[in-house]
Amino acid sequence: MEWTRAQRYQKLDETTLPIIENLKTKVKACTYRQKFHVQPNTGLLNDPNGFSYFNGEYHLFYQWFPLGPVHGVKYWYHVSSKNLVEWKDCGVALTPNAQFNSHGVFSGSGLVHNEQLNLMYTGNVRDENWTRNSYHCLATMDKNGEITSNQAVIHGIPKGYTEHFRDPKLLKVNDVFYCLIGAENSENQGTIVYYRSADLTNWEFQGEIQTQFTDSGFMWECPDYFEVGDKAILILSPQGIAAQGDEFNNIFQSGYLVGQPIDFETGTFQHGKFTELDRGFEFYAPQTMTTPDGRHVLIAWMGLPGIETISAENGWAHCTTLPRELTLVGEKLMQKPLTELQLLRKEKIEFTTKLNQEVKSIPQVAGSAFEMITTFSAFSGTSLGIKLRKGATTETVFQYDLLQQKLILDRSHSGRLMGEEYGNTRACKFTAEVLKLQIFADESSLEIFVNDGEEVFTTRIFTDLDSTAIQFFAEGTAVLQTEFWPYD
Ligand code: FRU
Repeated sequence: MEWTRAQRYQKLDETTLPIIENLKTKVKACTYRQKFHVQPNTGLLNDPNGFSYFNGEYHLFYQWFPLGPVHGVKYWYHVSSKNLVEWKDCGVALTPNAQFNSHGVFSGSGLVHNEQLNLMYTGNVRDENWTRNSYHCLATMDKNGEITSNQAVIHGIPKGYTEHFRDPKLLKVNDVFYCLIGAENSENQGTIVYYRSADLTNWEFQGEIQTQFTDSGFMWECPDYFEVGDKAILILSPQGIAAQGDEFNNIFQSGYLVGQPIDFETGTFQHGKFTELDRGFEFYAPQTMTTPDGRHVLIAWMGLPGIETISAENGWAHCTTLPRELTLVGEKLMQKPLTELQLLRKEKIEFTTKLNQEVKSIPQVAGSAFEMITTFSAFSGTSLGIKLRKGATTETVFQYDLLQQKLILDRSHSGRLMGEEYGNTRACKFTAEVLKLQIFADESSLEIFVNDGEEVFTTRIFTDLDSTAIQFFAEGTAVLQTEFWPYD
C-alpha cells in the first residue's frame, strides 16, 4: 500500500482506538514477531534514542511512527530495564505536539544532570511549502518518569549547513556540556558540528569537529562519542559512501573512528581509519551509554533507512539489536554480547564432535530462538560453517572460507528477501586458528559474534516457521564443540 503524506503525518490523537486495536491484533498475529528484542507494538521503530542509566534503571527510547510500518511523524517511545535484557513498556515519552517539533520528535540522546534525565533531540518542522527547519530541544524526565519540561534551546540551522542537521549527542567534558550534531554542509559533505553550554539551556555554536574522514558521504547521521582512558571513539552513520569490495555494501553504514580525545577548544580530532561496526545487513544509528560499573554498551537499530522490511505487511517494522559491550583493543573495538544476556539461558545442551567432509546435525539442537556457542578448532580444508534456520528449501549460511580467509554470511536462500539490490551476501577478511561463533537467533533475526567480538554479523531473516534445523559442515576436517540454549 502506498502511504500518502497525509497518512504519514497523521498523529495518534487524530485516529481512533478501534483502528489502533485492529492494528495491534494484526501485528500480534505476525509469525515474524521477536521473542527477546525490543520491537514496536505497532508501526515502525528506527533509531535508539536517549539510551542512559537513571534512577536505578536503564532507559531506552526509540524513534516510532505508530500508525504503520513507514517513516512518518516520529514519536519517542520509552522502555526501561533493570538489566538491559527484560524491558518494561513505559509508553510514549515525547509527542510531536509543539510548534518546535510539529513534524517529528527526531533522534537525540540522554544525559543525567541535576537529578533529571535530560533528553536532547531534534524537533523536525515543515512549513506549508514542506521546507524543513530544525530545532534542538531539551526535555527533562524526573524520577517518576514524568517529562516535566520540553523546550527548544537551539533555533534553526547555522549558515553553511543544509536542512539535514540533526541527532544531538549530549556530552559532559570537564564540567562543560557539549552536543555533537550530524550535518550536511553547503558543499553537500557530511560532517559533525558542536555547540557548548554551561547549563544545557543556553548553547553557543562552536564549529565543526575537524576529522580527517573528509569526502565521506553527503550526510553524517547520529553521532555518538565516548572516551576510554586516553583514547576516544567517535561513532557515526555516514550516508553516501560507495561500496569498496566487501566493505560498505549496505545502503548506508555505521562505523567508528578511534583517536585522541576531541580537543573541544579547537574541535580537532586526530584519528585512524573508519571501520564498520557490523559486517552484516540491518544495522544503523547505534547509540552507546555507560553502565554504573563503567562498561560501554551499544544498541543499534536492526534496520536501514530506505529499505522496506517484510513484516510491513503485518503492520510493523524493525527492532533494536541486542546490547553489546564495547572494549578497545589497540585501535579496534571489540563487541561482545552483554553478559546479562545469560539471564535468557535455561537448560543447556552440549556436544563435541569431529567433522570430516560432512554435514552434521544433532537432535535437539534446532529452533528459531536460541543462543549457541560453537567453537571450531584443528581445522583444515577449504571451508567450514553452520547452516541456520534450515528447512526444505531455505537456509542461512555462515561460513569461514579458508582459501579466501573470509567470513561469509549468505542469506540468498533465507526465505523472503529484501534489499536484494544491495546483494544477499556479506563478507570480511578473517584469519584465525580457532573460530568461536556466538549466535543469537530470534524469530526473524540472527546476530553472530565472532571470536569474542572481533566481528559481528547481524541480519533479519524472514523464513518459514518450520525452518528450524541447524547443520554444521566442513569441506575438510574440524573439531567442533557446541553449547546450545533453546529459548522456545
Ligand atoms: C536516522 C534518522 C535520523 C533522524 C531519524 C528520524 O535513521 O534519519 O537522522 O533523526 O532517523 O526518524
